[in-house]
Amino acid sequence: MTQRGDIDDIDSFHPAGCRGHRNQQRYRRSRGTTFLRPGPPGVGRDFNPAGKAKAEGVGAAFFEADLTDGEACKAAVAEAIKRFGRVDILVNNAGIQHVSPIEEFPEAKWRQIIDLMLTAPFLLTQAVWPSMRENGWGRIINIASVHAQVASPGKSAYISAKHGMIGLTRTAALEGGAQGITANAILPAYVKTPLVDNQIADQAKMHGMAEQEVIEQVMLKNAAIKRLIEPEEIAELVGYLSSDLAGAVTGASWNIDLGWTAQ
Ligand SMILES: NC(=O)c1ccc[n+]([C@@H]2O[C@H](COP(=O)([O-])OP(=O)(O)OC[C@H]3O[C@@H](n4cnc5c(N)ncnc54)[C@H](O)[C@@H]3O)[C@@H](O)[C@H]2O)c1
Repeated sequence: MTQRGDIDDIDSFHPAGCRGHRNQQRYRRSRGTTFLRPGPPGVGRDFNPAGKAKAEGVGAAFFEADLTDGEACKAAVAEAIKRFGRVDILVNNAGIQHVSPIEEFPEAKWRQIIDLMLTAPFLLTQAVWPSMRENGWGRIINIASVHAQVASPGKSAYISAKHGMIGLTRTAALEGGAQGITANAILPAYVKTPLVDNQIADQAKMHGMAEQEVIEQVMLKNAAIKRLIEPEEIAELVGYLSSDLAGAVTGASWNIDLGWTAQ
């Protein structure tokens, strides 16, 4: 998709001309969706039709797609190129969670999570690659997680997908180095989004705790800074990694994890 760099609700692509000059690195967030601004129109993709109003509200185009469907991934990129001529920036962001011990983890849920959070970023990277290579410039930004470096009980599929995303990022960085394409991953700890809201209740049930105890004793247990992260704090790093100034940065894992992995 052409991005105006949504980092939260929808994976997105930057169209032609939206390369990262510093004055383009400003964001606007409307629930779950953060777009770079100003800049030419972008395309966001999500399987939630509610994303359409959000995207159009900030001057971006919207393409409805279920990213667990490989053909839909390819069609989304084709649509972006049809509309804007090329793709400069890809942000792989869509994600879901399912909390369950391995013994009880449903196979269908495992496959859905791997399809959405590892196979779709691969297929989207593959689909945008020719455009970035032809232009000699590209930015791939993968929204991974602190769970790409550490594990927690009950999240086997999510953690496996996020660990895999680091491997994909590093491989893309090596292959893209000579072609002007960079690839980086951002690894946040808990961010204030619906994805976290939805799992507090699940974790409370799994750990036999009250929901507030889950936030304080589970989610923030390993955090040096005892608060949840604001989505804007992630968006700012997406902006930097999308910029010309980040041209020497590739294959890196950028932790925004409240000090979780410092121990
Ligand atoms: N919130 C956190 O604490 C946190 C921490 C680390 C990493 N992350 C990562 O950040 C990314 C964004 O998560 P979030 O917290 O904003 O969650 P969110 O639930 O607010 O947003 C996820 C988005 O993905 C979309 N999506 C889900 N399934 C899809 C599908 N099959 N096809 C297309 N779109 C689909 C949803 O519609 C939603 O807009 C995810 O990759 C997540 O793993 C989040």
